[in-house]
Formats: sequence, C-alpha cells, structure tokens
Amino acid sequence: MIDQEKFQRVFPSHRNLPVLPVIFYELLKIMEEENFSSRKAAELISRDQSLAARVLKLANSPLYGGQQEKNDIITAINFLGMERVKDLLLQIFLVKLFPEMRAEFPEFRIEIFWKHSLATAYFASLIQEKLKLANVKNGYLCGLLHDIGLLALFSYQPEMFVAVLREMKASGCSTVEAEKVLFDFNHCEIGFYLATSWHFSHELQDAILFHHSPLESPSNHVLLTYYANIFAKIAGFALPYDEKVYELLQDPLWKRFVSNSGDFDLERFTFELFDQAPKIVETVRVMLEMAQ
Ligand SMILES: [Fe+2]
Ligand SMILES: [Fe+2]
Repeated sequence: MIDQEKFQRVFPSHRNLPVLPVIFYELLKIMEEENFSSRKAAELISRDQSLAARVLKLANSPLYGGQQEKNDIITAINFLGMERVKDLLLQIFLVKLFPEMRAEFPEFRIEIFWKHSLATAYFASLIQEKLKLANVKNGYLCGLLHDIGLLALFSYQPEMFVAVLREMKASGCSTVEAEKVLFDFNHCEIGFYLATSWHFSHELQDAILFHHSPLESPSNHVLLTYYANIFAKIAGFALPYDEKVYELLQDPLWKRFVSNSGDFDLERFTFELFDQAPKIVETVRVMLEMAQ
C-alpha cells in the first residue's frame, strides 16, 4: 500500500514525478506481441537517431560488446537479444531522467551510484544465468533499479540525501536505518513507488521494496537482487559508508538460494566479478558521457 503523504515529501507535486519516455512503453508493447518482430523494434528505436546512436555506443561498450562491432540496431538486437537492448535503452533514459539537478556533494558523486547500480545489474544477470533461475525474467533490471529510490532522493531532495549519509557516517548504521531515524521511510519504499508509477512488473516492484529485507518476501527476484547488491559491494562498488563485511558461506539464506545449483563455486565467481570490474567502470563512463 502506498502512503502518498510520505512520497510527497520527496516529490512535492505529482507533476514532479519522473516519467519514462513513451517510446519505452511502445517498445514493451512490441516485445509482448505474439509475433514479435525485432525489425519493428529496431524501426521504433531508429525513429530517434540520436537515441539509436546512444544505444549502439552502449551496446559496443566493453561490458556487452564482445569482439563484434555492432553498427546498427538490428545487429545489436541479434547479438545481445531484445531484452538486453531494452535494458540499455532504459539505462540511457534513467541517466537522463535523473541528471545532477543540484551541485554534487563532496560526500557523493553520481558516478558512484551508477557504478553500484550497474555492477548489481550485471552481477544479477550473471547469477541468474549460473543458478538457471528460469522463473526470473528481469534480473538485470532488478539490479539496475534496486536503489533508484536513493537516486530520487539525491536528485530531488539532496539535503535529505546528505543527511542520510551523515547519519550513516556518524552512527555506523545502514542506509535504511538512517532513513528510518530521519524520515520514517526508506529508499526501498521510494523506489517501489517509482516502479509502480512506471508500471513495472510486481516481481520488479518487490525486488526493489525488499532488497534490504529479503526475509519478508524471499522470492527468487528478491534474493537475486539482495545478493547481487552484496556482490557489487564485494567487488568494490559499495555506496559511501556502507562497509559491512558479508560472510556468505555462513549465511543460511544464501545456502538455500544456491542449493539447487550444486556446482556454484563462490570463490571462482568472486574472482570473475573482479575481472568484470574495469568493464563496469568503463561502461559507466560511457553512460555519463552520453548524458551530457
Ligand atoms: Fe539499497
Ligand atoms: Fe544497493
């Protein structure tokens, strides 16, 4: 249940609520069609040449690129798949939707946020693949959007955001604990509110809402997001003052989550993540450069 009063403190007027471009929903509609045509999707994206160019630039960045240069949207769709191209499109919209509306604070730079979110998205898709979570459709998006409430706070109410960081630093508490003390709501709820307003799936809404309290709703989407978030921190993409150490081997929830995949090698996976780290840094650089 959404408590409007809480969210009005972040988005004082409903007109201020960030809105995703129509073209994104048009694309979702095409993707849902029974006889889905990648040509039709490519035509839609190519209607906006500068958007198409940005999608291609991101599709060729080291994280997704592979060896083969993708010069047109159809090639990108064939290589990456429509789902991933849609994810990249959303990535571009989100960076534009939340520009640095105020001067950045010394405590936080937007780049840190996107590195954390992109790492979580990418690691979620890797874990999804390794655990063969067939019922999870959009692990990447769950990771990408899990902290979107924090970005909203940073962009719309930077003083509130900085107060959270300062409380964390002063008392050593977590983000959600600091938010609870200061405002009686947290970034999970803000993110959930946004995901609802953007008509994302219930699974995605839940992944955002419970990404710090997975036991409240331990679905595969929620657990995937929860652990991808932890792996992002392990790989060096934590948000400021969030330095808690995680012992996954001692975590019963983790054991349960990976129990169906007998061959999940945690140590090897962690090494793999460190290998990916420079690609994440480079992809975020491309994303932010394109938004300027
Ligand atoms: Fe979070
Ligand atoms: Fe996070």
